[in-house]
Amino acid sequence: MHTSEFQLDDSIVYLNHAAVSPWPRRTAEAVRAFAEENRAWGSRRYPEWVKTETRLRQQLQTLINARSPDEIALLKNTSEALSVVAYGLPWQAGDKVVISNQEFPSNRIVWESLAKYGVVTDAADLSTGDSPEAALIACLDDHTRLLSVSSVQYGTGLRLDLDVLGSACRERGILFCVDAIQTLGAVTFDVQSCQADFVMADGHKWMTGPEGIALFYCRSENLDRLDLKQYGWHMIEDPTDYSRTTWEVAHSARRFECGSPNMTGIHALHASLELLLEVGMATIQQQVLENTRFMLDFFKQYPDRFALLTPQEVGRHAGIVTFRPLQGTPESLHGMLTAANVACALRGGGIRFSPHFYTPRKKLCKALEMLVR
Ligand SMILES: Cc1ncc(COP(=O)(O)O)c(C=O)c1O
Repeated sequence: MHTSEFQLDDSIVYLNHAAVSPWPRRTAEAVRAFAEENRAWGSRRYPEWVKTETRLRQQLQTLINARSPDEIALLKNTSEALSVVAYGLPWQAGDKVVISNQEFPSNRIVWESLAKYGVVTDAADLSTGDSPEAALIACLDDHTRLLSVSSVQYGTGLRLDLDVLGSACRERGILFCVDAIQTLGAVTFDVQSCQADFVMADGHKWMTGPEGIALFYCRSENLDRLDLKQYGWHMIEDPTDYSRTTWEVAHSARRFECGSPNMTGIHALHASLELLLEVGMATIQQQVLENTRFMLDFFKQYPDRFALLTPQEVGRHAGIVTFRPLQGTPESLHGMLTAANVACALRGGGIRFSPHFYTPRKKLCKALEMLVR
């Protein structure tokens, strides 16, 4: 049924959703139809496009359980959304931001760039302490203004307990920012239970959409805390009343979208999320976690040949499994896999496999068997 939506070339084993996902059939069709419509009619049906944009905000609201679509902005990518937060907050010299020592560069560089304002970025070593959360919480002090973490680490695949971190932040009056790109579309996410203030994720990984169209969630209480750095026609109230000379910043998160939206990306991501929400995130999560368990169990049979970099405990991983060969280098093994048309990535000091819910077990086995042949 829904697995037939993914029509990859038969020769490829695609285990790289943590990098860039293939599109479902309906997404490719939506983009094709949008291109054809633009060719034949230009923007004649623009009001219909805006309806798709509105539906996309609602889909994203559902995906993360936001209270309102007014808390959702459609930005370019995760890095842009992180920058909106980092450069929107008022900082004072001596303020501290806590991150982890496993973050993807997007969630490190932007905070480190605030050093020019005297802001200190402290990277907690997640391997110390009783738990990764304890390691992060131990870094929170009176100077800490914000904690920013990836919900699932891009290299090791470690999944953090966001509810624990969110509570710790709330108790201390610290803002909580979550890069959810390795989570949304793979496993469930609830912005209410984790109490995140800001959440961001581009569409091209587990959400199976294109690059360049991203969710930015800003809790409504925080909208006015972010100073705006970009201005234009689209981020005000009544944006299509072009002749007005007075203006007011949009009350919703649309205030972060300065100009014309990425309508092609909007149509594509809308189609991808339609599919994911039809299948249901509970089902997708179950299948993603079954794949992960299958891979972890496979590697456990070969303790002399592979070291697992992904934690094995239930709740500690999502869709990523990263491993290191104990003989030979990850680079040479990755080269062999790539030559055999297995799409995977070199990350975190090992090889990262990231199948999605629809990945046929047969394909997964094929890749795993190559490793022990
Ligand atoms: C944790 C994490 N954050 C962010 C990104 C990408 O950021 P952007 O959407 O800005 O390209 C990646 C991509 O690999 C990632 O793994």
